[in-house]
Amino acid sequence: MKWIIANWKSNKNIAEALDWIAQVGPEIPRDEKLKVVVCPTFSALSEMKKAITVGNFPLVLGSQDLSSFGTGAYTGEEPAQLLNQLVSLAILGHSERRKNFSETDGMVANKVNQALENSINPLVCVQGEETPVPDGCKLIAYEPISAIGTGNPDTPQNANQVAVALKQKYENLEVLYGGSVTSENVRDFVTQDGINGVLVGNASLDAQEFIKICKSVLEN
Ligand code: PGA
Repeated sequence: MKWIIANWKSNKNIAEALDWIAQVGPEIPRDEKLKVVVCPTFSALSEMKKAITVGNFPLVLGSQDLSSFGTGAYTGEEPAQLLNQLVSLAILGHSERRKNFSETDGMVANKVNQALENSINPLVCVQGEETPVPDGCKLIAYEPISAIGTGNPDTPQNANQVAVALKQKYENLEVLYGGSVTSENVRDFVTQDGINGVLVGNASLDAQEFIKICKSVLEN
């Protein structure tokens, strides 16, 4: 089974998000070898959830973050306890959050706990073998900073080596690759033994490109 996870970052208003799902939803192959997740902004989650349910599309909804606290007096935060009405996965510790919002390994570990306590699958982004994988986290994405949004992906061989090393270090881990994945190179990554799927930023914003990515993962 391969994961394909779309990380829209801070892009798409509700109308744009609904246009994307109307194009992508009917085209995603219903195949047990594929698990497709889309992570929009918080503001589009609710409408996206409705569209996926009404269309009965084989897509799962995720968030790009969640609060390291529970419910209560934490102005501006989105706690896992409330988010789990909408999402079943959360991207945590993305390098853009570590850089722009000073997220630390400790904060990421707290977010993982919040996710696990509230039935949300935490997907932690690591920048290399040295980034700690918090306890209980079984799904990570290896995303070298030099590859993110640059059109300059890691080599599939190197990404595989890192994935294998991480799997030796932590038990029962699934490892995705992220960084400049496109429909042109996705197969080179998902055909590596140690790689369980991809986290796609820029290329996931274009509906037709994203459909191509999903279909090419299933090609023989
Ligand atoms: P990119 O982003 O595909 O645009 O390189 C990936 C990510 O940041 O998750």
